[in-house]
Amino acid sequence: MLGGTAWLGGKITTAALRLGHDVTALARGESGPVPDGAAFFRADRDSPDAYAAVGRQSWDAVVDVSSQPGQVRRAAEALAGCARRYIFVSSCSVADHDIPGADESAPLLPALEADVMASMETYGEAKAACEQHVLDAFGPGRAFIARPGLIAGPGDVSDRTGYWPLRFARPASPDGSVLVPDAPELATQVIDVRDLAAWLVGAAERKVSGTFNAVGEPMMLPAHLERARQAAGHTGPLVSVEPQRLADAGVNYWSGERSLPLWLPLPEYACFASRDNGAAVAAGLKLRPLAETLADVLAWEQTAGPDRERKAGLTAQEERELLAAI
Ligand SMILES: NC(=O)c1ccc[n+]([C@@H]2O[C@H](COP(=O)([O-])OP(=O)(O)OC[C@H]3O[C@@H](n4cnc5c(N)ncnc54)[C@H](OP(=O)(O)O)[C@@H]3O)[C@@H](O)[C@H]2O)c1
Repeated sequence: MLGGTAWLGGKITTAALRLGHDVTALARGESGPVPDGAAFFRADRDSPDAYAAVGRQSWDAVVDVSSQPGQVRRAAEALAGCARRYIFVSSCSVADHDIPGADESAPLLPALEADVMASMETYGEAKAACEQHVLDAFGPGRAFIARPGLIAGPGDVSDRTGYWPLRFARPASPDGSVLVPDAPELATQVIDVRDLAAWLVGAAERKVSGTFNAVGEPMMLPAHLERARQAAGHTGPLVSVEPQRLADAGVNYWSGERSLPLWLPLPEYACFASRDNGAAVAAGLKLRPLAETLADVLAWEQTAGPDRERKAGLTAQEERELLAAI
């Protein structure tokens, strides 16, 4: 496991351990500990000898979550002779998002030429380069590339998928009102982190190769929000605000400060969250109901500290001010 000290990598490691596999996680150890039961190999993937020691052993599979083309290129080259398969966690962001129901054949962004992705502005291009490096070193028959969309569930440190169930559980307004974007035609599409992790490990066991959109079922934003409400037992009013009014009030899309998670501008993002997951499902991806994901991320949010500073969403104070002004 190249990574394993952060969210998805940790879940993949845990899933593999539960199935009885021996797992070694290679990381710096800056993001956190590796799950109990995994061996830890401390290395900096930006250093030239990062894979020298692990390259002398043999591996059934390598799983990589990096977004840095140089890290992936060096790892794939170093491990091609001692690992049977390479499982790479890419992203839907590698592909254009203007095709309704896009499958894996959607045109890709140009691959980043540099080894280092200097900012998230070139995330899609960087992941496209990483995919290419994996294919170059391992060939299509030994490479498994998963392109997740938004990953959801307990432990979501991006604070996006926990925002709505937590807000419905703890409305900012004393009368229980919750501010939501009026976006009935905006699709959402999330995949539970545990379903993704289990599928990646299973694909390694079954020696599946290929490139797959790793996404859940598309669902319109109001239906997603309704499930979040139900998970939280919210019965207060919804204050549905037109996108233009939200934008005028300085509310940001998707993530970050003063944002409404999962909200995106239309028509630019109409196809962003309606990708085809047919190939992944045929290759064994099993999706749990969204209601379960939202209930579990809410439970996690409650224990993680509901008043902590968040990387996404409106603060309670911001929401009260917006509700009063709108
Ligand atoms: N969140 C989403 O909704 C979403 C959507 C689509 C795709 N994805 C993809 O899903 C994956 C998420 O992975 P993740 O949750 O495990 O988190 P991550 O934050 O991407 O993990 C990075 C991992 O790499 C390690 N690392 C970073 N720099 C390193 C270095 N120089 N040398 C050695 N190790 C290094 C980190 O460990 P140390 O810091 O301990 O070294 C950490 O374990 C990523 O590939 C992401 O692009 C996410």
